[in-house]
Amino acid sequence: MEHIYNTARFLHVIGFAFMSIPLFNLIIVNERAIMGPSLHYSTDRYFENIIKRGAIRCYVFQCTVFVSGMVILFLGPGLNAIWTNWVLTAKTLILLLLMILLSYVHFSIQPKIENLLESMSPTEPASSDLPGKLSPHRILRKKLATVCLFLVITAIILGVQTYYRFHPFVSMALIFLAGGFSFRANKSLVKFGWF
Ligand code: HEM
Repeated sequence: MEHIYNTARFLHVIGFAFMSIPLFNLIIVNERAIMGPSLHYSTDRYFENIIKRGAIRCYVFQCTVFVSGMVILFLGPGLNAIWTNWVLTAKTLILLLLMILLSYVHFSIQPKIENLLESMSPTEPASSDLPGKLSPHRILRKKLATVCLFLVITAIILGVQTYYRFHPFVSMALIFLAGGFSFRANKSLVKFGWF
C-alpha cells in the first residue's frame, strides 16, 4: 500500500506541474502577437493546433491530479477529509472551476475560432475582416488562460499547506504574487522566467 501511496503522490505532483499549460499558451499567444495582426495560414494553423490540442492534454493532467488526490486520501486520512480539511475543499473546488473554464474554452470559444479559420487557405491571403472577427474570441480565451494560471498557482500554494499551514500573511502574499505573475504572463513574454 505504501508503494501505491507514494506513486499517487508522484502522479499528483507531476500532474499539477504539467497543468502549467495556461502559462505556455500565454507565452505562445504573446509570441504570435509580435508577428502582427495579419493572418498567415501556416503560422495561425500551427498556433491554433497547439492550443486546441493543449485542452485535451490539460483534461488528462487535471484528471490525474483529481484521481491521485483521491487515492492519497483513500489510503491516508480518508475521503471525508475533502469536507473536514478546508484546504482540500478549496483545492477540489478550484480543480472543478478549472475543468469548467477549460470546457468553456474547448467547447465554446475554440469551435468559433476554428469556424472562422476554416475560410483560410494555404494558397490565398486571408480576407481583410477575418482578424477583426477572430480578435474578440482570442482576447477572451487569453483572459481565461490568465485566470486559469492564477487558479493553478493558488491551488499549489494551498496544496503545500494540506496538513501544515503557513501564516495567513504568507499565504496572502504568495497569492498576491501569483496574481502579479499571471498578469505579467498575460502582458509579456516573461523572458526571464519570473519576469
Ligand atoms: C488544482 C488542483 C490541485 C493542485 C494544484 C494540488 C497541489 C498539491 C500540492 C502542491 C501538494 C503538496 C505535495 C507535497 O508536498 O508532496 C498536494 C498535496 C496533496 N493533495 Fe493536492 N492539489 C490539487 C488537487 C487535489 C485534490 C482534488 C485532492 C483530493 C481530493 C488533493 C489531495 C491532496 C492530498 C491528500 C495531499 C497531501 C499529500 C501528502 O503530503 O501526502 N489535491 N496537492
